[in-house]
Amino acid sequence: CGIVGYLGTRDGLDVVLSGLRRLEYRGYDSAGIAMPHDGQIAWRKRAGKIANLADAIEQDPLPQGAVAIGHTRWATHGAPTDANSHPHVAQRVAIVHNGIIENHDALRAELNGVEFSSETDSEVAAHLLNKEVDGGASLVDAIRTVAAKLEGAFTLVAVDAQDPDRIVAARRNSPLVVGKGDGEYFLASDVAAFIAHTREAVELGQDQIVEITPDGVNVTTFDGGPAETKDFHVDWDLEAAQKQGFDWYMRKEIFEQPTAVADTLLGRLNDRGELVLDELRISPETLRRINKVVIVACGTSFYAGLVAKYAIEHWTRIPCEVELASEFRYRDPIVDPMTLVVTISQSGETADTLMAIRHAREQHAKVVAICNTNGATIPRESDAVIYTHAGPEIGVASTKGFTTQLVACYLLGLYLAQVRGMKYGDEIAALLGELERMPAAIQGLLDNSQPVLDLAAELADATSVLFLGRHVGYPVALEGALKLKELAYIHAEGFAAGELKHGPIALVSDELPVFVIVPPRGRDQLRDKVISNIAEVRARGARTIVLAEAGDEEARAVASNFIELPKVSTLLQPLLAVVPLQLFACELATVKGHDVDQPRNLAKSVTVE
Ligand code: G6P
Repeated sequence: CGIVGYLGTRDGLDVVLSGLRRLEYRGYDSAGIAMPHDGQIAWRKRAGKIANLADAIEQDPLPQGAVAIGHTRWATHGAPTDANSHPHVAQRVAIVHNGIIENHDALRAELNGVEFSSETDSEVAAHLLNKEVDGGASLVDAIRTVAAKLEGAFTLVAVDAQDPDRIVAARRNSPLVVGKGDGEYFLASDVAAFIAHTREAVELGQDQIVEITPDGVNVTTFDGGPAETKDFHVDWDLEAAQKQGFDWYMRKEIFEQPTAVADTLLGRLNDRGELVLDELRISPETLRRINKVVIVACGTSFYAGLVAKYAIEHWTRIPCEVELASEFRYRDPIVDPMTLVVTISQSGETADTLMAIRHAREQHAKVVAICNTNGATIPRESDAVIYTHAGPEIGVASTKGFTTQLVACYLLGLYLAQVRGMKYGDEIAALLGELERMPAAIQGLLDNSQPVLDLAAELADATSVLFLGRHVGYPVALEGALKLKELAYIHAEGFAAGELKHGPIALVSDELPVFVIVPPRGRDQLRDKVISNIAEVRARGARTIVLAEAGDEEARAVASNFIELPKVSTLLQPLLAVVPLQLFACELATVKGHDVDQPRNLAKSVTVE
């Protein structure tokens, strides 16, 4: 969910609505806004996108006021209806909430006699707060008392109609940042909500309470003691967060990949020619002792992790496992101080991933985060960080997030190899040299992408699509299938090409388009087998869309459609092979008339487990 709060001199409604629009990628099942006015709470909320809320306000305007809070929801408890939307209002108090209140049933029982108007877990917080302020507590004391009762993850933001110049918020395991403008303050799930107004921000820690008044920002701990916070400057600008003439953010982000990859590679060598990480709170001695790497991530970031395994094991000879963050913690994984846990998260806020690294740290493992968001919770709670400098990724389906994560994974693999003395000097320089040629290679693919767009139009009626790959091409196949599911709502599966004969080949018919990623030449053992697989599906009538190195005539011979990839070494091929698959899914969804940036049921940043 996305949260925005504003206290200042401008029209609070305007500021909060525009902030919500920028956070819509965090969820868009419903939206709402509340403001203290004339001793009462004025509010509107609507199911559906923020446009519905804006229409409702146009028909039934809200009063003017310089204090407002707003919310855009990704439903967890209770269907996305008007009633279940936030804010939740309990007499003089209004709240917006992100997260899950796990003990909401018990708390409802405690509120015996109170009438509820929604099925959400969040509404209990509104009633609890109202009870406190009604009993004479100040709003900040009230939220402290309520926060202590809540179990689970939450960001809770509240206003009190009888204390209108104040917004308070409590934060536990769910994101919240403060923006400081000139005589005005913002509260938001992330900085995108307020970068149009200010780029000065304050990072909040866990279990903190923030109070905003016209006099400034006051942050305390849940116990009421002084809290440590960190000021930071946001280096994204508003323009970077806008579409720049593309029909979708996603398409813009696909086309930004040459720059994003180049930026992620920038400044990685020190003056002694050694690789460096962005933040390093682990000693090289510790890294030398590591005997296992475990990568944890979700969604597209997980697929980046699958690619990383091949590179890390090959370059460092350290065993590397990759696991879905949501599975990791709950199976009692074998993690100890000799384990290096690598976490990959574009947003740095994914709850499953965050919980996984907390579990790892409890077992005294060291954690390296690969993340695109400065100041997010995951990098803050990690021992080392490599930032992907992709800039803001707004499209829900990750694209430049993925390719820059791949770059960061390669850098980490090479860094570990360097620290452990496995490969250095010339070899690292050669690999970095090849990485540095990737932006131009990606640009080449983008410049010649018309055949991929035409193919998307041709295949718009497909009901199922298969993706096959081997070695690092296998995660690329998984990612190609995921993109198609997410955006085009077409059933798609990615398989390891070698598994074809063990089952999936039963699906093959002339109605099933099959994408195949062919390893570059030089890995001929692998490549030959993949080419045989293509021949096998072709013999059964399938249309074959083959992605292979330019000049690979054997691959071309078995292709119904041939997509040429620039020459590259095997381990780096995913950086290139994924690009046509991203464009294909984006275009196919566009042809079908879907909302590419906000696919149904999905959210960009999933901050609940
Ligand atoms: C959500 C998004 C995916 C993303 C995943 C992991 O499910 O819809 O696109 O890959 O979260 O996100 P993260 O921010 O942790 O990389």
